[in-house]
Amino acid sequence: MLYQLPHVINARQFDRNWLLGFAEEVKSMDLVLNSTTWWADRRRDELAEQFKRHSIGIAFFEKSTRTFISFETAARNLGIDVKFALPSFEAISSVVKGESFEHSIRILAGNLKPWARGALIIRHPLEGSALTAAKISPVPIINGGDGARQHPTQALLDFSYLFKLYGCIDGLKIALVGDLKHGRTIRSLAYLLAKFKDVEIFFVSPEEFSVGQDIKDYLVRHQVRYHEVRDIHEIVAKTTVIYMTRIQLERMGDQEIDLDQLKGQIQQFFSISPSVVQMLRQDHVIMHPMPIDQKTCEIPTAVDLIPQAHYFLQADYGVPVRMALLHEMFFGKIPTVPEDI
Ligand code: NCD
Repeated sequence: MLYQLPHVINARQFDRNWLLGFAEEVKSMDLVLNSTTWWADRRRDELAEQFKRHSIGIAFFEKSTRTFISFETAARNLGIDVKFALPSFEAISSVVKGESFEHSIRILAGNLKPWARGALIIRHPLEGSALTAAKISPVPIINGGDGARQHPTQALLDFSYLFKLYGCIDGLKIALVGDLKHGRTIRSLAYLLAKFKDVEIFFVSPEEFSVGQDIKDYLVRHQVRYHEVRDIHEIVAKTTVIYMTRIQLERMGDQEIDLDQLKGQIQQFFSISPSVVQMLRQDHVIMHPMPIDQKTCEIPTAVDLIPQAHYFLQADYGVPVRMALLHEMFFGKIPTVPEDI
């Protein structure tokens, strides 16, 4: 069952050619959304006709703003029937009565199947949960984030946004900054970057938040140059894209944290501080999957106003990206999930 359905589980499943085609499709969806020409009108009608027998359900067992809303918006823009869109599913469902994840998935997916071609979009704090769901679901699963492991649709968004800016990813010099140990977005993005030539990655994090060995091994296998750095100032001149992430305090379990000390460390070495802003060139691009944490403040609010701040534009691109993904899922060909994930 797993390999017959077009599940989206892990960023490793996408190959270079598919990614390039996908980024073009996102551009065309973006045009459909933002253009008032006869062409865009006609394309909107065509999409509504194409999707009239399709449905999705969204059930998130973990908090979300952007991923949840942009999937719902994308589906509605395409004329897909949104059967249910449930944030905080863990709090309102039979999970509170002790229902297993597997049983919840069977029930959710079962509500989609009989009516139309469907897909189920989930987010869950447990690593590997999307794969577990894919093994038992009669409809394709889209992973909206599974614990600290993968966030493939955010990676597709980040990649497509970079493609829109540059038209090419080969040769990109990018810094991934912040909590690289628990951040699933940078793990997924690293997999996609590895599909391109001469990409150079600078991992910038406190020692205790370093990127996982599995990602470093993957980059070595794919001959991607990477460096580990402990101070953001060192990479500004060497990069064009600075991709920031927040410290994921909620994934640190019972670990005792001195928040003041952490905040001081982040602001001095791992934030877009005034001294970093001073070093930026005009062509620098600052990205962030968001949310930006106001407690540790990896990006002070004043930075929102500088032209190098791209994170709101990046977030807006989530809607055409998810429209293109749903289109690929139902009418295109999503590369299959590799056996060894
Ligand atoms: C990220 C996530 O949920 O992993 N946000 C998102 O989906 N845009 C990043 C985060 O929570 O820090």
